[in-house]
Amino acid sequence: MKRYFIHTFGCQMNVNDTNRMGEALASVAYRPTPVVDNADLIILNTCSIREKAEDKMLSALGRYRQVKLQRGALIGVGGCVAQQEKQKILEKVPYVDFVFGPDNIGQLPEILGRVTNDRVRVVETAWVDSEAYVFPQADPQTSRGRCTEFVTVMKGCDNVCAFCVVPHTRGREVSRAFPEVLDEVARLTTVGVREVTLVGQNVNSYRGGSSFAQLLLRTAQVPGIERVRFTTSHPHDLSDELVEAFRVEPKLMPHFHLPVQSGSDEVLVRMKRDYTVSEYLERLARLRAARPDIAVTTDIIVGYPGETEADFQKTYALCEQVRYDGQFSFVYSPRPKTVAALKEDEWGPVAHEVKVERLERLNALQKRISVELMSRHVGGTVEVLVEGRSKTNQARRFGRAPHNRVVNFDGDAPVGALVTVQVDVASQSALLGRQVRITSLGSVVIPEGAMEAESCVVA
Ligand code: SAH
Ligand code: SF4
Ligand code: F3S
Repeated sequence: MKRYFIHTFGCQMNVNDTNRMGEALASVAYRPTPVVDNADLIILNTCSIREKAEDKMLSALGRYRQVKLQRGALIGVGGCVAQQEKQKILEKVPYVDFVFGPDNIGQLPEILGRVTNDRVRVVETAWVDSEAYVFPQADPQTSRGRCTEFVTVMKGCDNVCAFCVVPHTRGREVSRAFPEVLDEVARLTTVGVREVTLVGQNVNSYRGGSSFAQLLLRTAQVPGIERVRFTTSHPHDLSDELVEAFRVEPKLMPHFHLPVQSGSDEVLVRMKRDYTVSEYLERLARLRAARPDIAVTTDIIVGYPGETEADFQKTYALCEQVRYDGQFSFVYSPRPKTVAALKEDEWGPVAHEVKVERLERLNALQKRISVELMSRHVGGTVEVLVEGRSKTNQARRFGRAPHNRVVNFDGDAPVGALVTVQVDVASQSALLGRQVRITSLGSVVIPEGAMEAESCVVA
């Protein structure tokens, strides 16, 4: 029996695609291994959102070269760098055997056949026509051992944010028909999944036969589903209907990731983000009015071409005003074929030290706010869906609170249980506490450790 190891970089779309790769490989008798040294096939599922992501791929490839030398393992590169660089990866890295794009995951068995039988190196990155695209159906067995899972609702992105490589690597937006999504969710419940996160690059422009809000409400009605989440959304599509869904559906978890990118209208125009800061704040206010306990997180780019200190101050002030529960902030990184990369010289590049210094100021602010917001839970209780043993302390368990924060706790509740946890300590990113009682067990017994044993995904 042959074994594969997949190293996954990037976003939830890639995590999901890794699962689909595993299913395609299972059809030709490959099994997963969590140890790369035992692998006959190594796949890197890559991300190209920032330059660093690409560098990480190259350094991982360097490490895996040893496995190839020692046991002749095949090496494949998939994901967004594969789609972007295609043939160039084979030219740059002579020990890579094949390159395949996100649309070509289903062709993996055939690609492997060509690599092993015909002894050729293969590049397969053709887009599938939007109308002809068929979303691969998840096999629920892949999710055995998990109580929470991602479900793809759309692929690609039709926005044209000037800094972003995703439209170039993932192509046009295609939505998955809603009955198909609901069918996948229902099948996931048969192995014990109780929480689903609907994923796509821009989920609230979903058009799969219903609005995105309706899709969320329907998902919440699938028997066995206790929690529904989604990611990620563009502020310009935050509809009244979606806000209303948060008011009426308690299974829709109180967390909204709403990337603002910048607090300066001038920068937002150059980013082609299609909203002003005041429009963003107005939408956020409606959301908070509908669901006062909602946790809001965001993404911010600092040092965007032409960003002045005054622009940055506006971003800083916005963060002070909104008091985000968390933010993913990055220094701007020029990406191939994007408008921002082409115009960087015209708009005025920001020096690296300036970018880094601004990022540090923003991170320090966010740390203070996050700790303040997290500390409010100390002395109270939160409901946690138990996902497994704590990553930092094997004697503890961990799961997530409704607002999506990790909670580590002392207790014995099984994976898939919803438990009430008394919170004793808060840090910027996690809560620590004690199990008070189990509120409900899942209908499926999830064996302890099943998830860890099967996993071959390395972040
Ligand atoms: N579809 C999502 C974003 C996906 S990319 C949205 O529109 O909100 C995730 C985040 O990476 C972005 O929100 C942005 O903050 C960051 N990002 C994207 N391109 C970048 C670049 N060229 N440099 C730095 N950060 C970038
Ligand atoms: Fe990129 Fe913008 Fe699409 Fe998000 S919405 S994936 S930032 S182009
Ligand atoms: Fe990265 Fe591609 Fe996701 S560029 S963030 S893996 S869509």
